[in-house]
This record gives sequence, C-alpha cells and structure tokens, in this order.
Amino acid sequence: MAADGSARGPAHGLDAALTAVVVVIGVVDTWIKPSNGLLTGAPTPVVAAVSGAVGAVLWWRRRRPRTVCVAVMAGYLTAFTPVALAVALYTVGDAAHRATRVLVLYGLAGCAVGLGALAADHAPIDPREAGYVLALILGPLVVGSAVGMRRDLVAAARAEVAGLERERNLVVERAQAEERARIAREMHDVVAHRVGNIVLTASALKVGPLARAEPAVGDAAEQIRAEGHHALEELREILGVLAPSRGGRRAPRTPQPDALQLSQLVEHANARGQRARLAVNGHPEVLPTQVQRALYRIVQETLTNAAKYAPGSEVTVTVDCRLDRIRMAVTNGPATRPLPLGLPPSGGNGLIGLTERVTLLGGTLAYGPHQDGFQVRADIPHPPRTGHGGPGLEAAP
Ligand SMILES: Nc1ncnc2c1ncn2[C@@H]1O[C@H](COP(=O)(O)OP(=O)(O)OP(=O)(O)O)[C@@H](O)[C@H]1O
Ligand SMILES: [Mg+2]
Repeated sequence: MAADGSARGPAHGLDAALTAVVVVIGVVDTWIKPSNGLLTGAPTPVVAAVSGAVGAVLWWRRRRPRTVCVAVMAGYLTAFTPVALAVALYTVGDAAHRATRVLVLYGLAGCAVGLGALAADHAPIDPREAGYVLALILGPLVVGSAVGMRRDLVAAARAEVAGLERERNLVVERAQAEERARIAREMHDVVAHRVGNIVLTASALKVGPLARAEPAVGDAAEQIRAEGHHALEELREILGVLAPSRGGRRAPRTPQPDALQLSQLVEHANARGQRARLAVNGHPEVLPTQVQRALYRIVQETLTNAAKYAPGSEVTVTVDCRLDRIRMAVTNGPATRPLPLGLPPSGGNGLIGLTERVTLLGGTLAYGPHQDGFQVRADIPHPPRTGHGGPGLEAAP
C-alpha cells in the first residue's frame, strides 16, 4: 500500500472554500436533519461543533487523504456528516486511483460505516435508504478515481506530444545539417577547385622565366599565390564549420579575424598597390569578438571594392571607439587609374552582407557616393543591442 498522503500541489483557495462550505453544511444540517448518529439526543451546539470539526478536517485531505477519510468516517458515525464523507471518499478515489486494493478497502469501509450508521439509527434498514447511502459513498469514490485516471491520461498525452515535438525538431535539425553539408560540398566543388588552379598558376608564374626576367611579375605572382592560398584556408575553415563532423559541428581551428588584424589588411592592400591609410581611435581589440570580426569584414570588403571600382584612389579607414558605440568609415577618393580589364564579376552581395552583419549587432551601415569617391559608414552600439536597428546614420542610396 502506498504511503498515506499523495499530496498534490496546494490549491489553497479552492480547498479553503470547499472546507468552509462543508463546515457550514455540517453545522446547518445539525438543526434540520433527523439523525445525529451516535450523538443523537446530545445538545445541538455540541452536535454542531462536532459536525463543523469533521468538515474542518477536510483541510488536510490533499496531504493525508486516507487518514482524513478514516477520521471523517468516524465523524460520520458520530454526528452523521454525509457531505464530508462524500468529499473525503472522492479525495481518496482521486489520490489512490491506481491502487485498486485501496479503493476496494475504502469502498467496503465506507459501505460498512454507512449501513452501520443507518442500522444504529433505525432497524430494520429501508432498502431504498440503504441504496441512497451506498450511492452517496461509492459514487464519490468512483468519480474521484475517474478524475485521477483522466489526469494521468492527459499528462501521458502531453508527454507524448512533447516527445513527438522533440523528435520533429531533431528531424528538422538533421535535415538542416545535411543541407549545410550539401552546400559546403557544393561550395568546395565550385570554389576550391578554381582558386586552387589560380594558386598553382601563380606559383608556376612566380618561378617561371617571366618572373626571372621581370622581378615585379614575380612579386605580383607571389601576391596572387598568397592571397589564393589564404582564401583556400579560409574557405576550408568555413566548410569545416558548415559540414557536421562526428562530434557535432567543428569550431574553426585558426583564430578568427579580429581588430588587431585591421592594420595587416591595410598593409596588404598597400602591398597590392592601393593607397590605404588606417586611423584608429581607442582600443577596438577589447570589443566583443563579433564586433571585431564585423570591423574586419567591413574593411576587407571596402578595400576590395575600392580596388575594383576606384583603382589608384586614396582610401582612408577610420575607427572611432567611443564609450557606447563604434563609428567607422571607409572613404575612397576618385580613381586615378583606369578600371582594370577583366574586372571580377559584380555579385552585389558584399555591401548587403555587411549591412546584415551590422544590423545583427544592432547597428547601421550606410554607403554611397561621397564627394568624388565612395564612402561606407558603420555605427555599432557597444555593448551591441542584438537584433535592433541602431540609431544614427542615414542609409545612403
Ligand atoms: N569604392 C567604391 N567605389 C565605387 N562604387 C562602389 C564602391 N564600392 C561599391 N561600389 C558600388 O556598389 C555596388 C555594390 O557593391 P558590393 O560590394 O555589394 O558588390 P560587388 O563588389 O559588386 O560584388 P561582391 O562584393 O558581391 O563581389 C558595386 O557594384 C559598385 O557599383
Ligand atoms: Mg564587393
């Protein structure tokens, strides 16, 4: 037999109201009912006090349903308290709905108490009255156990729905991971092969007769080779993150670009023949990683754009770290050299990608023609307010 006390969460308000109602019914019943059990003939205030006390015991019915039921049965025999007995049996039915033996035991005990009280009141027992008393005792017990079973069923159904939901999420996640892996493979096939060819061609050029005759050709070939090599490394890192491995997604092995590498970016641009200048105010290297990475990508993309669309122009990169925000601008003047032949295809994704990146950090990116050249400005709050567009710059066309 389970411990006597399958207490449930306290529904204090409801319990207090129910207890009060049963107490009142017990007391009022004292004056209007013909029978008072063993106390028949006792002074009405005494019977009323006992009836009220039997009702009050119900306050503990959730914590100790069986003990309370036994007490109420005794009270029923003493002062005839049918409502309290019905509530106590209902509670036992609810709390012990899985324990058939307990239900049978309390059902039999209830019948014995009911019929015993009837016999004590007046013998022989009227069968109709006996039927009424038994219904009053067994009915609540059955209803209580039905309510308990229903609650179990609802909980089981909820658990099953939650399980199905979890399973569905897993399937979706797996499908997404597979899709990521597929895109990663696709990217590898499309890009890595061609960049690999560029690197090989540049390597051959670097050690070929043309480079020996003209050192500038060798330098340029080396630059192309180094850039291609670097691009391949970065591509592999990104593919590694996208393609799931056995232990889940892999983190990039090499450190991700940060603000400390901004000067390197500018140096490389100058080595490639650009005229770029970097002015930093404050300490961007202490900013959150994702902000530093955004700064790096902005400078990377805008330097490339300047080289593509305004060759030979002067490019100024300014980074201004304030207490609550970072403002940066990349400004280039007019082209001083003709546009190179065979310009890389314009994807139109660079600035859009930067805008999304900055917006995710809660900032804004603005860009457009500026004097004779072009300007890109970013305003990123610090610490970043993720997901909200930041105030500040007016978006340029
Ligand atoms: N420094 C610049 N000078 C002049 N025009 C520019 C400059 N930077 C960008 N633009 C213009 O803005 C457009 C969008 O640039 P964006 O970087 O988004 O795309 P893209 O460089 O053409 O292609 P992608 O970056 O996807 O390879 C460019 O096509 C170009 O017309
Ligand atoms: Mg671009």
